[in-house]
Parts: sequence; C-alpha cells; structure tokens
Amino acid sequence: MVSNREPYIHERNKKGIRCKMPVGGLVAAIDPVMQRTRGVWIAWGSGNADVETADEKGRILVPEDDPRYTLRRVWLDPKEVNEYYYGFSNRIIWPVCHLFQEKARLLPEYWETYKRVNQRFADATLEEARPDDHIWIQDVHFTLMPAALREELPGNNIALFWHIPFPPWETFSCIPWRKEILGGMLGADLLGFHTASYVANFLGAVKKEFPEAQVSTSAVRYRGRITRVRAFPIGIDYNKYREMSSKDSLRRRAGQLRNKISVQQIILGVDRLDYTKGILNRLLAFEKFLDTHPRYLGKVSFIQVASPTRSAISEYREMKQHIEETVGRVNGKFQRPQWTPIIYINRHMPGDEILMLYRIADVAMVTPIIDGMNLVAKEYVAVNDNGVLILSEFAGASEEMDSAIIVNPYDLDGMVKALEEALSMTPEERARNMEPLRELVKEHDIFWWLSSFLEEWGVELKMDEGAVDEIVAGTRRAR
Ligand code: G6P
Repeated sequence: MVSNREPYIHERNKKGIRCKMPVGGLVAAIDPVMQRTRGVWIAWGSGNADVETADEKGRILVPEDDPRYTLRRVWLDPKEVNEYYYGFSNRIIWPVCHLFQEKARLLPEYWETYKRVNQRFADATLEEARPDDHIWIQDVHFTLMPAALREELPGNNIALFWHIPFPPWETFSCIPWRKEILGGMLGADLLGFHTASYVANFLGAVKKEFPEAQVSTSAVRYRGRITRVRAFPIGIDYNKYREMSSKDSLRRRAGQLRNKISVQQIILGVDRLDYTKGILNRLLAFEKFLDTHPRYLGKVSFIQVASPTRSAISEYREMKQHIEETVGRVNGKFQRPQWTPIIYINRHMPGDEILMLYRIADVAMVTPIIDGMNLVAKEYVAVNDNGVLILSEFAGASEEMDSAIIVNPYDLDGMVKALEEALSMTPEERARNMEPLRELVKEHDIFWWLSSFLEEWGVELKMDEGAVDEIVAGTRRAR
C-alpha cells in the first residue's frame, strides 16, 4: 500500500509521544486488510515524532500494541513538502481536477520535485516488494509510480485509486506534463475512480494524448499492456457510524447541546475549508433565504464547521478571509441578542462532536462546487434518520444519492428554494425521503467498495476462494 497520508502518526506534545490514526474512511478500511495480509504500507512520515519512533529505514511495526504489518515512512524535507505536496499535488493537480484552472501554479520546480518524490516512493516500494506482491497506490500524489514500478517489476499486479474528480481533457490539458502523468498511470493494471463520468474523462484524455492506444469503455491497451479503468464509488463504515452515534452518552450530550441552541431548526455544513466546497455560496444562499423569508428570522440557525486545511497555500487563506467576512456581515445584518444566524466553527472538531452535530441538524447542506465523492453526505445520512439532505449535483455522491434535494451550487435562488422545501417538510416526508438514502449508504459502504475493488483487481491476497469475503468479514470483526 502506498499513500501520502500515513495510517499511524506519532506526535510529541508536552505529555510525551502520542500515536494517532488520522480520521477518514480509507485508513479505517484498509488498515484491517493490511493487518490480515501483513503487508507493508509506505507513506510520508509527517508526524513530529515519526523519526524517533521508526528504525533507520523508517520502518515501524503497527499497530504498536499488536504488531501486524510494517509502516515504512518516507521522509520529506521542507522544500519537498512545499513543492511536491503543497505545490504539485495541491496547487496543480488539485485545482485543475476540480475545474479551477485559474488557481493552478504551473511551476516547473513543482514538477521536478514531484518527479523526485515519486521516484523516492518507488525506490522505497522496490526495496519492500517481492515478485508476487500486489501494490496498491492511493491518489494523485503518485501518478508516476505505476509506470516507474512497472519497469522494475513487470509481473507485479499494480493498482491506483484516484480520490478526486477527473476533469475533461480540455481542462486537464493545461498541465504541461499531462502526458507524463497519464503515461505514469497507465503503468497500472487497474485504475479506480469514484464515478462513471470521471472514468469517461480519463479515457477521453488517454485517447487524445495517446492516439496509438486502443481505448474501450473500461480498458486501455497501450504498449502491449492492458489497464482496466472502472468506477468504484467509495462509501463509509456505516455500521460504525450508526454504533458510535447511538451510544447513550453521545445521545445525551447531543440532546443537551440541542436544548442550548434555542431555535426551531438547525442547518449544518461540515467541510474542510477548501475553495472547492462551496461554503461561500452556501452562506450567501442562507443570507438570501433570510432576506426573502423573514418568518424564519430567529427560528433557524446555520452551523458551519470549516476545518483548517492546507493553510500554507494563499488561495486557502484568501477563501478563509472571504468566508469570515461574509459570516461577520450576515450575522451583523440579522443577529438579535438571543439569536445567532450563522454559528461558524473554524477549528478541527473531534469526531464525536461532529456526530452530535449530525444528530441535531434538521438539514445538512452538502453543496460543493465540485467534489470527487463527499463523505459528509453519507455520514449525515448514516447518523440522522429524520433529517433532510441538500446535495450539490456536482458532488460525486449525487450520482448515487439522487433522492436527496439536488441543487446547483452556483444557483443561489435554487438553493434558497431547496432550503424552503427542506425546512417545511413534515417528519413523515423527511423519514420517507431519508430511507432510500440510508439503504444506499448502508449497502454501498466502505467494505462494499473495498471488496468490489479487490474483486475487479483479481486479488486473492494469497488466500484462496472467498478471500475477499473473508477480508470483508475480517475487517468487520476487527472493528
Ligand atoms: C482529499 C484527497 C486525499 C487527502 C484529503 C485531505 O480527500 O483525495 O488524498 O488526504 O483530501 O487532504 P490532505 O491534504 O490533508 O491530505
């Protein structure tokens, strides 16, 4: 397994060294598989106590209390973090794939460092990999790795999953190094995307860049090799969300919190503070809603959680400033001594506090400008049986979750109408609308995603027939 984020991070604080697992479905799903296969997970050692807890090769056995597999940390110096992670990954691939070409900084030094870091990860992988190992690479940080590994390991089974949108060729092609990127990815045996349209966009780009390749609707034959390309919409650990959110203590705390917020209804937004998430338009829509529906003044509050992210990048800082000015302006315009229209939280919130917010929110507004999938939509549905989901048509999740109230995040009037509709639904209507969504999130959970991917990959993980079922069952037990 290769990913940029590591599954276990060691951080030193005043009390000593603490090992934490990043939140997020991917680590939660893949860690138990790794525990079972006893493989090696290669990732950037980003914690401030990572070096001292690993050996001289960067290796550490994890989980520490019951070692099952090896985490191999790759070290990056500040220049590399700046140019490979913030630069190429987050100031080129990220904006371009999210259709924000104008934000891309197409600097050659970012490309040079990205290539070097990809090679560093490939070298670490070559040191670890045995001839029949399966190698699974995650996300946009390592597009060059499949081809780099393929040269050295012609017989290994290599896959890559792309966690963000893949744009049309006309957009993607603003990257001067587009051909190298696509060629790098085609070193894989299997490429996974969240939706059918990202698959189609990727295949369209391959056709344009490699006219000599044979491209079908789900595979590419290039230089005598076949790369299968398919959609696997990622899900969440539904049962775990249900379980955690129905614990007595959490329900009690959520009830207390709800009593303290003295409005009739609560609307919720939960996002990383990223310009792709549509936070600003959402707040402007809420302002317009209050302007045009004065009967809701004092009766509804909007809670927006905006977690800090990538703040070394100026576009993120500018977006934060813009959002905060808007929150201040809207609150200044409507606020009453006993009522706050927008409750804005700009810090990392622990998982249980987010769960409480999911529980108490009558409406969740998940309205990104564009998003690969968006798991907040799925988490809310898993936790809240009586809520209403307003979902952007440009979130990957809307391909499956089409019984939500679907909106265009650029259309403020459309979002105002959606808010009116959501807030005036009867409890019966809400429950009726929520049911198919909940069924879908339950069925297409993270384990369904994982097993469909592994099945398509033909991975038996050195176990016989039924291995995938066994892994899935194992991950469920491990939880
Ligand atoms: C997206 C990417 C992930 C990334 C996550 C958080 O979901 O697809 O690869 O880990 O954002 O961003 P960060 O830059 O903090 O890893």
